[in-house]
Amino acid sequence: MKVLLTGSAGFIGSHVAEELQAAGHEVVGLDVRAGTDVRDEAAVDSSVAGSDVVVHQAAKVGQGVDVADLPGYASTNVYGTAVLLAAMARRGVGRLVLASSMVVYGEGAYECSEHGRVRPGPRATDDLSRGVFEPRCPRCGAPLVPVVIGEDAPTDPRNAYATTKLAQEHLAANWARETGCVAVALRYHNVYGPRMPRDTPYSGVAAIFRSALEAERAPRVFEDGGQRRDFVHVRDVARANLAALAGGEEGTLEAYNIASGEPRTVREMAVALAAARGGPEPVVTGEYRLGDVRHIVASPARARAELGFRARIGFAEGMREFAEAPLG
Ligand code: UD1
Repeated sequence: MKVLLTGSAGFIGSHVAEELQAAGHEVVGLDVRAGTDVRDEAAVDSSVAGSDVVVHQAAKVGQGVDVADLPGYASTNVYGTAVLLAAMARRGVGRLVLASSMVVYGEGAYECSEHGRVRPGPRATDDLSRGVFEPRCPRCGAPLVPVVIGEDAPTDPRNAYATTKLAQEHLAANWARETGCVAVALRYHNVYGPRMPRDTPYSGVAAIFRSALEAERAPRVFEDGGQRRDFVHVRDVARANLAALAGGEEGTLEAYNIASGEPRTVREMAVALAAARGGPEPVVTGEYRLGDVRHIVASPARARAELGFRARIGFAEGMREFAEAPLG
């Protein structure tokens, strides 16, 4: 197939390009680093023409620093996706694979022994400053058990990036419904691997720890280190994009968690990376960031059943490679 790949020069996009090419697809890249902005209607229109599918990775990522970042997120992620979808409709391109994120869920899924499945709101500053990191039942205050989150969980975007990722999904669903086309949203969990951008205010925790170790500094693990994430290797994410080319249903958007299925705590990740690099041992600092969620652990079942996608790179193997791999 002829694939228009936006964000083709980025961390994830560059791996997607390699995976698609290795599978025999013709990849046309569009990237702001190569001079084409996804908001540029004329450039996007001519790039879309003649494609069989658009794989949309281009986005402003990370958590943002403050409200001054809002226009940038809205413009690149929301308006850029709208420009792309309009061009696809004009040019008769009927299939979209969208890079979405687990951040659309907000806090992970939890169960209360008394009240069953509950959705805790943001954690209180008072609790965090006292070292009470686990969210509690919003109805009775009891301790909760974290459970895996499925794609049907309610969404609760808690920062600008999350809001724009959810807006992209909604716009793509609108487009699919109105045109009868196919949209597949891949909700990436915590992606890591070679060429991950080094430490910036917008970086995820794996890049921050990896950059610290490169500078021979100890990774600083926030809270008590027990917060859980699903770290998924970037080559597995690229393979999920390849699998998504054949997935989905006409007239609708289907969303999939893209995860390893092997959740780990942030502390475990820091320890694995430091050991593989032979660097200083991680320090658990007790610091916290107000916007952070405690645990977010995915069910990879739907992607497995419907896309035939299963991550192949295990945690230990992936972290060993990442410890020495070049950053972007
Ligand atoms: C991250 C991304 C999010 C992305 C998602 C899925 C950022 C800022 N967040 O969300 O945009 O969609 O993965 O790929 O890019 N932590 C430390 N030490 C540090 C920094 C962070 O212990 O130096 C902890 C945080 O407190 C948090 C955990 O690591 O508990 C994960 O942090 P981070 O990777 O920034 O955010 P996610 O919520 O996982």
